[in-house]
Amino acid sequence: MDKLVIKGGVPLKGEITISAAKNSILPIIAASILSGDKCIINNAPTLEDVYVICDLLSSMNTKVSFNDNNIYIDTSGILSTDEPDGDLVRKMRASFLIMGPMLSRFGKVKISLPGGCNIGTRPIDLHLKGFRALGANIDLGYGYVEAKAEKLKGNNIYLDFPSVGATENIMMAAVLAEGETIIENAAEEPEIKDLANFLIQMGANIQGAGSDTIRITGVKNLHGVSYTPIFDRIEAGTYMIAAAITNSKVKISGVEEEYLRPVIAKLIESGASLEIGEKFIIVNGHNGLRAMDIKTMPYPGFPTDMQAQIMSLACLSKGTSIITETVFENRFMHAGELKRMGANIKIDGRCAIIEGVKSLSGCNVKATDLRAGAALILAALCADGVTTINDIYHIDRGYVSIEEKFKKLGANIERIK
Ligand code: UD1
Repeated sequence: MDKLVIKGGVPLKGEITISAAKNSILPIIAASILSGDKCIINNAPTLEDVYVICDLLSSMNTKVSFNDNNIYIDTSGILSTDEPDGDLVRKMRASFLIMGPMLSRFGKVKISLPGGCNIGTRPIDLHLKGFRALGANIDLGYGYVEAKAEKLKGNNIYLDFPSVGATENIMMAAVLAEGETIIENAAEEPEIKDLANFLIQMGANIQGAGSDTIRITGVKNLHGVSYTPIFDRIEAGTYMIAAAITNSKVKISGVEEEYLRPVIAKLIESGASLEIGEKFIIVNGHNGLRAMDIKTMPYPGFPTDMQAQIMSLACLSKGTSIITETVFENRFMHAGELKRMGANIKIDGRCAIIEGVKSLSGCNVKATDLRAGAALILAALCADGVTTINDIYHIDRGYVSIEEKFKKLGANIERIK
């Protein structure tokens, strides 16, 4: 398995362009099923998770091809009897996002229960609650779930928690349903709005995406489109912290300040120096890193997907930082690995208490999940000596050419096959 070997202490310099959002493109590719037509997704990030969802569609009579960073998807050949390859579904939780589109287009779908990052139990009850409210019968068998409906009918659905995946799946199920669906306490993440914009371009009638109430009026059919997803705010935030933690000047391009506000606020609080422009942010080192308290929340709160990376920064910030993880129940696996590098972290339930240290030391660590892996890269970039990060297949799921991008910024980083 591939490893990353990083020699710390090298300042970064230059400009990095942020790729399209993983968490937008996965539901968008799933949503292309609804068109029964040809869709083109532009500027697609070359990520393991993107290949997995494309393979998943290919396992269901979909023609998928890649050309010049664009993905061409023709879902006209999918049959109502098609079932996605179970091994691929178990590789990635987002595979479950094909359930809403299949149910909507064919009135039936059977799929293995999904996999994904090891960050808590991650149930699917809210997705199923939504499908049931739209009139589907759900059969939960050993390792699979099957949903069937004569005709989906719009309904009012209140989500007990603003789940990103459940909001997306229900929205996709509702676009071809009869009548109006209202999702209350919906997730407000920018990627929800992006998916809605894709669906609207295909002919869907959706209002309020990006707020906590989404109204969908079912239409008879949708058509293929060409679409460019928004930038990846988590990739952008990761490079912003890379610049801050290494006390370097880096220009992060292709971003919108609006979607990065919680990360910007915390970086400024920590002592980082930021210049915000149109479609770019420059992080120009820091004037002494200070401790900060952080609570992860659904958008527009601080993203759980940035929690591990900001913990690396807190490890080197003067004073005591408290990080509270409210979205996932078991998302502190990276703390153990950071401690191996010399960090002073105590975990108490959903809180991590971090006493800043003067420096970290390179050693052998492993990426326990995608963002945990990113956190280790950040720590390694400023650690004394050499860090070897194992199990980096997690990182490849969500960061485009990560070692190439860091090399371009001057980092001493190598991938060992
Ligand atoms: C998405 C993102 C992931 C991010 C997460 C939270 C994608 C592909 N992935 O994941 O990167 O970390 O949002 O911002 O977009 N829950 C339930 N029942 C459900 C569904 C979820 O209890 O039916 C709980 C989960 O266990 C978790 C919380 O809700 O504790 C958030 O999960 P959710 O918002 O659904 O995350 P994902 O869509 O899986």
